[in-house]
Amino acid sequence: MKVVVLAGGLSDERNVSLSSGAQVRKALEENGHKAFLLDVYTGLPETITTFEEAYDRGKENSFSTNISKDAPDLNKIKEEHNHQAELVGPNVLAVCKTADVVFLALHGAIGESGKIQALFDLYDISYTGSGYQGSMLAMDKILAKQIMGYHHIPTPQWIEWDDTQTFSLPCVVKPNANGSSIGVSICETQSEFELAIKNASTYHDKILIEEKICGREFSLGILLGKALPIIEIIPPEDSFYDYQNKFQTEGAKEECPADLTPTLVSSMQQLALQVHKVLGLGSYSRIDFLLDSQNHLYCIEANTLPGMTPLSLLPQEAAACGISFNELCETMLQNPYS
Ligand code: DAL
Ligand code: MG
Repeated sequence: MKVVVLAGGLSDERNVSLSSGAQVRKALEENGHKAFLLDVYTGLPETITTFEEAYDRGKENSFSTNISKDAPDLNKIKEEHNHQAELVGPNVLAVCKTADVVFLALHGAIGESGKIQALFDLYDISYTGSGYQGSMLAMDKILAKQIMGYHHIPTPQWIEWDDTQTFSLPCVVKPNANGSSIGVSICETQSEFELAIKNASTYHDKILIEEKICGREFSLGILLGKALPIIEIIPPEDSFYDYQNKFQTEGAKEECPADLTPTLVSSMQQLALQVHKVLGLGSYSRIDFLLDSQNHLYCIEANTLPGMTPLSLLPQEAAACGISFNELCETMLQNPYS
């Protein structure tokens, strides 16, 4: 197949995405496809409009799978590439129109908000993952929690922040639409809370405040309508699963399959399937959970384009049930959104 692996973009998760994309491209090439990695922001010169031309250039394009310690400075990237705003260049669209499938290795921003999915629908371009509506609902944490609430799916108590509200400490402050924990803070004190609000508001105009659930953190993927084994995330002591702990080898440890009773495994898998369904997601997703000391489960969120980096969770969950990284990528490719 002719596959464009779309990655990068002007997203806070740009570097994570380039790492996912590099791994996916390699796997698809090993699986016998003609696959190249295209940065949706920097794109290719406008004269390149066919897959073949783009492939010849793009296959040279080897972004690293290592992720630097901090999220990228998007203003610097804008300056470097002399772009004014996030855009999908006409050449990127033209190249995608000549591919058999676009593999979405994007994270955050247009990749997970449903915007690129809607654009591809209009141009009849086949892509992996979820459709525009499910993507949009999952990426908007407040909307997703409202839908979970409607369906009685447990989720930590929350409010949408405005200056008139109060919320008891400790709590978790999150920008409403971002990933990889960028802009997320756990607050124990009022001064931490004030700083956290300031920080989160640099990433999004809506801020979600959640009660802090003390307990264990888990995640599990859904692949072709089935729940994968559950993974437990064990961050270093006095820390949480933040950006650094997610993408540095000395960060969080993971255990898969997680050490849980069969009853809890079954409950979490059922809830994950339900979340995937009520948000209308596609051939795969990854759903994140917390478990408190009384064995109450809380769904935190659904990820429509979960990380595919060397340290990411979904590939580890697939491996735990005998699905190699290359097989996982192949399954995603062969089951595009429709
Ligand atoms: N947002 C990151 C990539 C994840 O969920 O894995
Ligand atoms: Mg997420």
